[in-house]
Amino acid sequence: MPKSNAADSRAPGKVGARPRVVTTKTVMTMKNTGEKIAMLTAYDYLVAKILDQVGIDIILVGDSLANVVQGHETTLPVTVDDMIYHAKAVKRAVKNALIVVDMPFMSYQTSVDDAVRNCGRVMKEVGVGAVKLEGGAYIADIVKHLVKIGIPVMGHLGLTPQSINKFGTYEVRAQDKTEADELLVDAKVLAEAGVFSIVLEKIPSELAQEVTESIKVPTIGIGAGPHCDGQVLVVYDMLGMTEEFKPRFVRRYAELASSMREAFRKYMHDVKGEQFPTDKESY
Ligand code: KIV
Repeated sequence: MPKSNAADSRAPGKVGARPRVVTTKTVMTMKNTGEKIAMLTAYDYLVAKILDQVGIDIILVGDSLANVVQGHETTLPVTVDDMIYHAKAVKRAVKNALIVVDMPFMSYQTSVDDAVRNCGRVMKEVGVGAVKLEGGAYIADIVKHLVKIGIPVMGHLGLTPQSINKFGTYEVRAQDKTEADELLVDAKVLAEAGVFSIVLEKIPSELAQEVTESIKVPTIGIGAGPHCDGQVLVVYDMLGMTEEFKPRFVRRYAELASSMREAFRKYMHDVKGEQFPTDKESY
C-alpha cells in the first residue's frame, strides 16, 4: 500500500489518533472531506518532533524565523541558506507531517530561473514536500512553471510580510472593495496556476469566506476568521513566548515565556545557593 493511502486509516479530525503521512494531495482532499487543516510553524528539530508526534498536518518552516529566531524587525533579511539550515533540522524530526518551506524575499520574484534554482535547492537539499511563495497574479507564471517541474507551491495572500515596505503597516489588508476584489482575483489566478493551497493572512473574515468558497484548493487562515479550510499560527506566538506581540488573532495555548523565566530563576537560585547539583545529581 502506498504510504499516503495508509494515512486514510485515521479518522478525520481525531487529535491523537494514529498519525498519517500528509502530502499535498492529502491537504487538497481535506477541503472536500471538510476536515480542517492544522498548520503551525517550526524552525528546529525538537519543536518539529513534538508537532509531528501529535499529528499536526503541516509544519511550515516560515520566514518568520527572521523575526522569532534571528531577531530581525522584518522577514526581508532571511536567506535561502538560512531557510535550508532550519528546514534540514525540521526534516530530521518529521515522519508524517507535510513540511512546507517559505521562500525568502527576492529568491523567487526576480525570474522563473531564480525561482527554479532556489526552490529547487530547497526541494533537493532538504527533501521537503512544498514551498510557499507570497504574492498574487504577478507570480502566476512562476508558480505554473514550478508546479510543472514538480515543485508543489502554497500561495500566500493578504498581509504578505515581505511587502511590508510597500504596505507601510501590519494592519488588516483588503478592507476596501478594490483590494478585496483584487485579492479574490489573485486567489483564483493562483489556484488556476496550480497552487495546492493558499495562506490568507489578516483579511476580513467575510472575504476569506468568499475566497474559500470560490476556489477548489484549501485556504489556510491566520487572522482571516473561521471560514478558511485550515488555520496556521507562528508556534512561539501560540506558546506565549512572544509576549509583546498581541494581535487578536493569536490564541495563546501556553505561557511559556513566564514558565521559562520561573525555571531560569529557580536554576540561578539553586546554583548560587549551592543547592544544585546534589550528590544524587553527581558522579
Ligand atoms: O512565515 C510565517 O510564519 C508565515 C505564517 C505566518 C503563515 O508565513
